[in-house]
Amino acid sequence: MPEFVPGPFSVPRRTLMGPGPLNIHPRVLRAMSTPITGYLDTAYFKVLDEVVEMLRHVYQTTARTMAVSGSGSAGMEAGLTSLLEPGQKVIICSYGYFCERMVSMAERIGAEVIQVRSEWGRVMDRALLRTALERNKDVRLVTAIQAETSTGVLQPVAELSKLAHDHGALFMVDCVTSFAGAEIKFDGWDIDYAYSAPQKCLAGPPGVSLVALSERGMQAVRGRKRPPSSWCFDLGLIADYWGPEHKHHHTSPIPLIFGVREALAMALEEGVPQRIERHARVAEAFRAGVTALGLRLPIPPDSRLNQLTVIGVPAGIDDQKVRQQLLDHHGIEIGRGLGQFQGKVWRVGLMGESSQPANVLALLSALERVLPEFGHEVASGAGVTAASRVFAEKPVQVP
Ligand SMILES: Cc1ncc(COP(=O)(O)O)c(C=O)c1O
Repeated sequence: MPEFVPGPFSVPRRTLMGPGPLNIHPRVLRAMSTPITGYLDTAYFKVLDEVVEMLRHVYQTTARTMAVSGSGSAGMEAGLTSLLEPGQKVIICSYGYFCERMVSMAERIGAEVIQVRSEWGRVMDRALLRTALERNKDVRLVTAIQAETSTGVLQPVAELSKLAHDHGALFMVDCVTSFAGAEIKFDGWDIDYAYSAPQKCLAGPPGVSLVALSERGMQAVRGRKRPPSSWCFDLGLIADYWGPEHKHHHTSPIPLIFGVREALAMALEEGVPQRIERHARVAEAFRAGVTALGLRLPIPPDSRLNQLTVIGVPAGIDDQKVRQQLLDHHGIEIGRGLGQFQGKVWRVGLMGESSQPANVLALLSALERVLPEFGHEVASGAGVTAASRVFAEKPVQVP
């Protein structure tokens, strides 16, 4: 076998403006390079406790909070695995690509899955959920996604949660793309389990899922007939490590938790409402620029996400070639459409670190150069001018 000796480590610098991960602040990267402790060291427990408190703040809860090792999907799987027993019924509100991932996971667990399909790119039709709940009185769990990253729509979590509880079911919600970029009232909306991921609006590292579990949710986990089939994703065992007893479970991903700790601290320093407002203002300017470029925004204005803008790919334009050109010539990553939206939309993430005027102006100016090469003529400077006008009227403070 020839000896393999890699050259110096090198990856290109990117401006990450896709659906995630997004760029990470140097302060967070520095925290991640802090020499590690053991995961049962009392000094590390102090870090865990800080993370718990800060998660409570962002989720607006006094409930149990913790991190699940693994990406956002691990938080999804931990919830489904821990809250559902084989044969139990789960209603999955389904209006996008990640909702369908939930369906696939719940089926693997052996749950009886009722997928309530609502139109992609629109707010969930609550009447469909109500009917499904009335037809299935023995539903154990209802699930929804607050910010469907595949469609760019903000969903009415409070209403969905109320419907679930009115029918005696538990309610679980995906906050992967909403956490620290849109309001989440875990207690106020009576949520039983929520999970998120740091690589989106929190501007932290991918690889853990940040979760909250209500007392009712915990009782459901502890009161199961049989333990969850996954030992790794058993929320009861994970809670025992993150709780005051700090009982041994698995080796914590220590550098990631250091990064999450710092990213949460930065969000709290900025103020969560202020951060949400920043996301709104930056998105408003970007949408003005996109519209000035003659591009279509297919999601209705009152349900658009601010952290993720979905743009219609103009007819006759190869979506992949435009994205590649942006990456190769401008170092900017934007996202492609998923599922039903594949080839039809681009997805632009303005989340966390990436939610700032410089990024908006860089992408609009790159689009002004790239789009005409593919036959979509734009007035030079139109997008940048429109966005700059919004920023001039409503300045954005970037921490
Ligand atoms: C809404 C939503 N849920 C779940 C996930 C899965 O997260 P991860 O890729 O970190 O596993 C994503 C990823 O983009 C997402 O956008």
